[in-house]
Amino acid sequence: MTDLKMLQGKNIVVMGVANKRSIAWAIAQALNNAGANLAFTYQDERFKGKVERLVNENMPGALMAPCNVAEDAELDDLAKRLKQEWGTLHGVVHSLAYAKKEELDGLFVDTSREGFHLAHDISSYSLTAAARRLYPLMSEGGSIITLTFQGSERVVPNYNIMGVAKASLEASVRYLAADLGPHEIRVNAISAGPIKTLSAKGVKDFNRLLDGVEERTPLRRLATADDVAAAALFLAADMSRAITGTVIYADCGYHIMAT
Ligand SMILES: NC(=O)c1ccc[n+]([C@@H]2O[C@H](COP(=O)([O-])OP(=O)(O)OC[C@H]3O[C@@H](n4cnc5c(N)ncnc54)[C@H](O)[C@@H]3O)[C@@H](O)[C@H]2O)c1
Repeated sequence: MTDLKMLQGKNIVVMGVANKRSIAWAIAQALNNAGANLAFTYQDERFKGKVERLVNENMPGALMAPCNVAEDAELDDLAKRLKQEWGTLHGVVHSLAYAKKEELDGLFVDTSREGFHLAHDISSYSLTAAARRLYPLMSEGGSIITLTFQGSERVVPNYNIMGVAKASLEASVRYLAADLGPHEIRVNAISAGPIKTLSAKGVKDFNRLLDGVEERTPLRRLATADDVAAAALFLAADMSRAITGTVIYADCGYHIMAT
């Protein structure tokens, strides 16, 4: 499917690569194989070297820019840079989230005000903050894709404030889809099954979460980052042209099970 070059000539910015295990990196490879021109953002200097090495080794020539989504000025600079380099943007992959480690351990009832704000700012508001600056560049229409988890709908031990922030993110997807639909910009979320990444490690007992999931999952396996990337490719491409404001589950069907 990826050989069809269905994204030839499309300019897409990928936010959220930390390392080769990042879901954003799997998505970037799928988009690159489909012919898209890619730009990558990295959170800050701590991530710069690793992301630059990964991109230069695999996709030499791709654009790279810092973008800590907590900083309006960095989002402004990103929009300016993409306008200068490309003029027109066709897609945004928002694959990032953050909550303090201590909020992802123990009882939700113990969530601090600061922890609540931080998780919502980085994991939810950042989608709107990016969209409001980047949609003016999407003058030919396009696709905005974010990543969520079913902890938004059901209680997942230790996921806590991140589940609440993901619920906010999914609601934002619907409001953004309604606002941007007249510009032919679609906004969707992919709800990924649990995958071992840097962020996932921050959730206490994440590995225990995976215990027995395979037996209880309709497809009898865990979804991989490549599975999620395939869904992202679909959402970035014209094949999904009538789909907006929705959450697509790339979790091998786990979300339909009661236990
Ligand atoms: N791994 C899973 O099991 C899973 C399941 C469902 C959804 N998700 C979601 O997928 C997305 C990607 O996570 P991942 O699992 O690939 O982990 P990851 O750690 O590889 O990626 C998370 C990214 O968030 C970025 N980030 C955090 N704070 C930031 C900030 N202030 N500014 C800019 N970037 C910031 C990090 O730099 C990192 O690149 C997240 O939204 C996560 O919630 C993950």
